[in-house]
Amino acid sequence: IPVEPFDLVIFGGTGDLARRKILPGLFRRYCSGQMPRDARVIGAARTDMDETGYREMVAEAIREFGGGRACDDGTLDEFLGQIHYVSIDARGDSGWAELQDLMKGTDRVEAYYFSVAPGLFGDLAERLQSWGMADASARIVVEKPFGRDLRTARDLNATLARYFHETQIYRIDHYLGKETVQNLMAVRFGNMLFEPLWNSQYVDHIQITVAETVGVGGRGDYYDKSGAMRDMVQNHLMQLLCLIAMEPPARFDPDAVRDEKLKVIRALDPVEPHHIVRGQYLAEPGNEAAQPDYRTAVDNPRSRTESFVALKTAISNWRWAGTPFYMRTGKRMVARSSEITVVFKDTPHSIFGEEAGRHRNVLSIRLQPNEGITLGVTIKEPGPGGMRLIDVPLDMTFADALGPEGADQVDAYERLIMDVIRGNQTLFMRGDEVEAAWSWTDPIIEGWEARNDVPKPYDSGSTGPDAADQLMRRDGREWRKVS
Ligand code: BG6
Repeated sequence: IPVEPFDLVIFGGTGDLARRKILPGLFRRYCSGQMPRDARVIGAARTDMDETGYREMVAEAIREFGGGRACDDGTLDEFLGQIHYVSIDARGDSGWAELQDLMKGTDRVEAYYFSVAPGLFGDLAERLQSWGMADASARIVVEKPFGRDLRTARDLNATLARYFHETQIYRIDHYLGKETVQNLMAVRFGNMLFEPLWNSQYVDHIQITVAETVGVGGRGDYYDKSGAMRDMVQNHLMQLLCLIAMEPPARFDPDAVRDEKLKVIRALDPVEPHHIVRGQYLAEPGNEAAQPDYRTAVDNPRSRTESFVALKTAISNWRWAGTPFYMRTGKRMVARSSEITVVFKDTPHSIFGEEAGRHRNVLSIRLQPNEGITLGVTIKEPGPGGMRLIDVPLDMTFADALGPEGADQVDAYERLIMDVIRGNQTLFMRGDEVEAAWSWTDPIIEGWEARNDVPKPYDSGSTGPDAADQLMRRDGREWRKVS
């Protein structure tokens, strides 16, 4: 179903995110018929370039980062006809009159994507207002990092609030746009089966892993000032934790969902220093030049920034008191794998005797790759061998269920951009949520700084430092295999 006609201005329109995600994503929505034929996409950046040059850049980006099945070259030409470019100075005056001219007199949805360094958010917002483009129907989309601590996030929220109402601000966390993340809500709240068991009485623990094989790549400058805690835990892992732990919202609407997520963050226990492990990756043996160690990659031989974090926390509320939540994320790990796992408790008594062993139900929600949900159930081993029990998976891999055109054809970004146009904020973070997440993260980072904490080295291609495994083993538990 096509969305309403819109004008989308991408500040930072020549940048990495625009080239890799936003523009190819829009093109895929165009090919699938969701982006109307009279919608316009306006790249805006400092680079001095004309429209033809920009269209060429867009075409190249789409060729490089994926158009998708339903698209062909003819469609690309049509799509390019809807692309425009304005060379603009975010901090000066040049280009603004031209942009204003382009946006004048249309009564369509107007969205402004701030795909630029956060230091420019305030300048852009201020100029959009002074050039008459920040009217009540305009929407702005802002990328992470949303601050680097509570203070800077508050400042950023206050700056944006001077020009835009909260209902106009779309703070992107692209993890919320992933197919399985939304499916997690469907599974939890669309079935009678799970919700009665979804509490500390039946759940032994929950683990969340986001493992990456990539290193910091060309983002060393940014990353070395952030680290895994700020880059991944404060936002992506926190959002996953909220969705898995929140109370059922009364409705699937933006404030109902975000109110429940906020309550989870506010109920999170502080993390004890001995419940958190930081790591920093070493080079890949035999491949040091191509895959150097973290410190070489960021060109900072004394860096104490973590590229890996594992931690244990808890949620102090009626539902979850006593259930540990374990989270880990890292770069240059053995496999790319993101998974949320709910491990249920043992049955209270085994009627089959101790030799049959104890079995646990494990629900695993796999974000990537091979998106899907699997429930491990215990059955009798088929055959005449007596009452032997085995665990088998009830498997719902989306690619199987939906066919090759299914789930992973829609990237998180394209889904979220369409939500902006539809005016649906459910999958975007509200200002108070972001601040609450920083309130929980700040003391952890301040503790490291105060103690001059040095991250533990771990081998590239591993599952992180041994201490992360010990964190689990001390509690008689194991991380799920990263594969
Ligand atoms: C980004 C982080 O937000 O998410 C990156 O800044 C990280 O460091 C990326 O690599 C992971 O996203 P995905 O969708 O590839 O899991």
